Amino acid sequence: MQLRQLGSSGLMVSPICLGTMTFGSPVAEADAIRLTHAAIDLGINFIDTANVYEGYARYLGSPGGVAEEIVGKALRDRRDRVILATKVAAPVGPGPQDRGLSAVHILRELDRSLKRLQTDVIDLYIIHWPDKCVPLEVTLRAIDTAVQQGKIRYFGASNHSAWQLCEMLWLADRNVLPRVVSSQIPYSLLRRELHNDLTFCQQHGIGVTPYQSLQGGLLTGKYRRGQPPPADSRAAEKPDWMWQQDDALFDRLEAIAQQSAEAGVPMAQYALCGTLAQPAISSLIVGVKRLEQIQDAVAAANVVIPPDHLPKLDAICPPPWRQPDPVRGM
Ligand SMILES: NC(=O)c1ccc[n+]([C@@H]2O[C@H](COP(=O)([O-])OP(=O)(O)OC[C@H]3O[C@@H](n4cnc5c(N)ncnc54)[C@H](OP(=O)(O)O)[C@@H]3O)[C@@H](O)[C@H]2O)c1
Repeated sequence: MQLRQLGSSGLMVSPICLGTMTFGSPVAEADAIRLTHAAIDLGINFIDTANVYEGYARYLGSPGGVAEEIVGKALRDRRDRVILATKVAAPVGPGPQDRGLSAVHILRELDRSLKRLQTDVIDLYIIHWPDKCVPLEVTLRAIDTAVQQGKIRYFGASNHSAWQLCEMLWLADRNVLPRVVSSQIPYSLLRRELHNDLTFCQQHGIGVTPYQSLQGGLLTGKYRRGQPPPADSRAAEKPDWMWQQDDALFDRLEAIAQQSAEAGVPMAQYALCGTLAQPAISSLIVGVKRLEQIQDAVAAANVVIPPDHLPKLDAICPPPWRQPDPVRGM
């Protein structure tokens, strides 16, 4: 796989990043370790986890930690082969300091993540969600402390829009604080609300690392109109993690399936490749349950779809409205 730059960090990452949200359940520890090793052997050098991940057992405020512990075990003898990302902000308990982006919570959770991950340093520390109760400058100063302490190397944001990233860059420049280098957003062929933010990220050295580029498996072609979901699929095992499946969704899925068949590319690979075609994107975070799924994702990095397919995909799944450009007409 040809590596890509992660924004202005200087890091080179594989275009596919291993997501770990299902580590613990339905992917049991031993299988998760095997999948992680297989991913590294296939050329993936980027792993995404979070302090709260614990597979399907997760509920709002549950303590998390399970996925980080598994990743720590998996990387015990191969830590240097990966860029390791984890996150902070989501609730890990009922108390007021058990969530968010205050210095107390960030620095406490960072120490816990380091311990679970069995590492001295996290390459990319990500603020998982915005926290409207904490001034952004407080958060950036806590991040700066962690950088000065050598506990993190770079920081990224998740679930932030372009104006929020802009505020981060502005505060960082004004106060000589760390600059945000990555943006982890929900983005797929089916989900393009933040499409217009991609240009901002590209222009300002922020590598975009979308999550759910397969939309939880919908974009793999395994769900069919009018048929029950396959028994071992997420829609069967954990329906509340899936989108509602209606006729409008199947209209789009069937149109994408037809295009992928025309290109002679399996639908999952086609969907990932069609998303990777956006130049702002550094890496797609893909969740997997089985070895063949990682192999499929890695194969997508080398797939080429005909250039005229991209406008056709835009017609099937239109990007959000953008002001027409009367100056350049582009
Ligand atoms: N920052 C955030 O707020 C946030 C939120 C969500 C996720 N994430 C990150 O993004 C990662 C990916 O999210 P996700 O797992 O929800 O979404 P996803 O990558 O779109 O979907 C992954 C699921 O699709 C199915 N699948 C994958 N490849 C397949 C293939 N080739 N053929 C058939 N089915 C296939 C598998 O489920 P089944 O086999 O069970 O059907 C797999 O668990 C997470 O692990 C996490 O690291 C971040």
